[in-house]
Amino acid sequence: YMFAGQPEDNVARYYDLIGHPVMPPRWALGYHQCRWSYMNEDEVREIAEGFKKRDLPLSAIHLDIHYMDGYRVFTVDEKRFPDLKDLTDDLLKDDIRVVTILDPGVKTDPEYFLYREGREKDVFMKLPDGEEVHAVVWPCWCAFPDFSDPVARDWWAQQYRILLDRGISGFWHDMNEPAAFAAWGGCTLPTVAVQKLEGRGGTHLEAHNLYGLQEAMAGFEGQRRFRPERRPWILSRSGWPGLSRYAWHWTGDSESNWWSLEQTLRILMNMSVSGIPYTGADIGGFGGKPDKELYTRWFEAASMMPFFRVHSAYFTPRREPWCYDDETLEITRFHLKRRYSLLSYWYTLAAAATRTGRTPVRPMYMEDVAMVDVDDQFMTGNALLVAPVVRKGANSRQVRLPAGTWYDWETGSAVGGGRAIDVPAPLGSMPLFAKGGSVVPFDLGDAVELRLFMPEGDGRFTGGELYRDAGDGYGAWLLEQFQVAAEGGTVTVTRKATGDFVPAAATFAFRVVGACSSVTVDGTAIDLSDGPAEILSTFTSIQITR
Ligand code: GLC
Repeated sequence: YMFAGQPEDNVARYYDLIGHPVMPPRWALGYHQCRWSYMNEDEVREIAEGFKKRDLPLSAIHLDIHYMDGYRVFTVDEKRFPDLKDLTDDLLKDDIRVVTILDPGVKTDPEYFLYREGREKDVFMKLPDGEEVHAVVWPCWCAFPDFSDPVARDWWAQQYRILLDRGISGFWHDMNEPAAFAAWGGCTLPTVAVQKLEGRGGTHLEAHNLYGLQEAMAGFEGQRRFRPERRPWILSRSGWPGLSRYAWHWTGDSESNWWSLEQTLRILMNMSVSGIPYTGADIGGFGGKPDKELYTRWFEAASMMPFFRVHSAYFTPRREPWCYDDETLEITRFHLKRRYSLLSYWYTLAAAATRTGRTPVRPMYMEDVAMVDVDDQFMTGNALLVAPVVRKGANSRQVRLPAGTWYDWETGSAVGGGRAIDVPAPLGSMPLFAKGGSVVPFDLGDAVELRLFMPEGDGRFTGGELYRDAGDGYGAWLLEQFQVAAEGGTVTVTRKATGDFVPAAATFAFRVVGACSSVTVDGTAIDLSDGPAEILSTFTSIQITR
């Protein structure tokens, strides 16, 4: 396929071809806390409490392999987690979800229900001589479902009920390249292994790269089947274009060093234009011991990436936001809160991706093709420019601004674009700019503030959108689109709404960033001299005189 057009349109057309990303539940766009492993119920409660008492927002806690009984997938270790349902119910009262890891390898234990069932149903991959393919993963010898077989997918989907019944909200598909521990040879399954390939038959050589995608299809179906009122959520280590119809992705076991942080930005952007729009990396890297500076910088950067999670390996020191010092705690709190103040913005980007195939993360060349060489800054949506600090010891960085007026997100001060500028960025501050002419929704608890960043010159500008619904499920929704146009001395914001969701608040707070002399909403003057003003959320048009 060839796509001829602007990069942004080409990528959207590509998503038309492979399928638009599925709409995630709103909580998934918040912060996730993970560790290999939170060992038992008490520890999980302690972590949740740790966030609460330090005033740190948290959306999900992930359980790594120790929650299982001897690493047997779809089991729970009842000694460590005697009542998982009780735990998930309690955490949900604080709006915290629990996500569990799932590995595709099924322990070849004749006493284990899943292995017995899998054999009875004949869903495991075989060698050409008819023997089951066995390889070593966490539980030692395992057999592997052939996810290219619809029967195997259906059987695997059936198992999600075990964890959904215990209140698990999402699933983390790991080791699904599929990975195998090998003292010699390849660290995956033999390429000669026979696979069903939807009935036509073939080998693992052909089906290997589809393994994670087809596992995600099963996991998605399982959640739809047993919890149809809520949206499925899956995080997958392996995948293929089309994965985003079912799952998000993280970059696996990244290294704990500066190069790896820098590389994460490139991966994120390249994934986004390659069919995998929701990506993030283990903050601080997976297997090392990030020092305070690396951890903090990584946290800052990840706070503007679609998937925002701290994770760390078994053999590393703990890495919750309070594990360093007070300054680190304060910085992480600041970035967590900033993320949550932008959740409606993120959620709107997610809805746009589902509707149009335009992804939340946009490389700079989508703003200006001349910026094709920029790989250390990116756009989230078409209003916010993110320029993380990814160099050790840096207290400032160069930011390349496309043409137009840009506003420092924190101070609101205006900067002329079309050039590179040096921006001070001491530890704790990550350069974030909003584009002139855009409208960004900003969360204030249940209410939303609309921020208009004043454009310069005449014409039509980026504008903005706000998508709202219940945050999960398949009920009513409301999409509001804000067009921004300027002529002479007047900037006009017009609102167009579709859908019938009724938001909790009947008003918006409205703020103008940049100089203006007077504002009228549907013909009535409002006063913005003391900050934002409350306006009816059903307004049709706002006129701002420069
Ligand atoms: C793999 C995963 C990692 C996980 C570990 C134990 O290395 O990539 O995230 O913590 O397995 O399950």
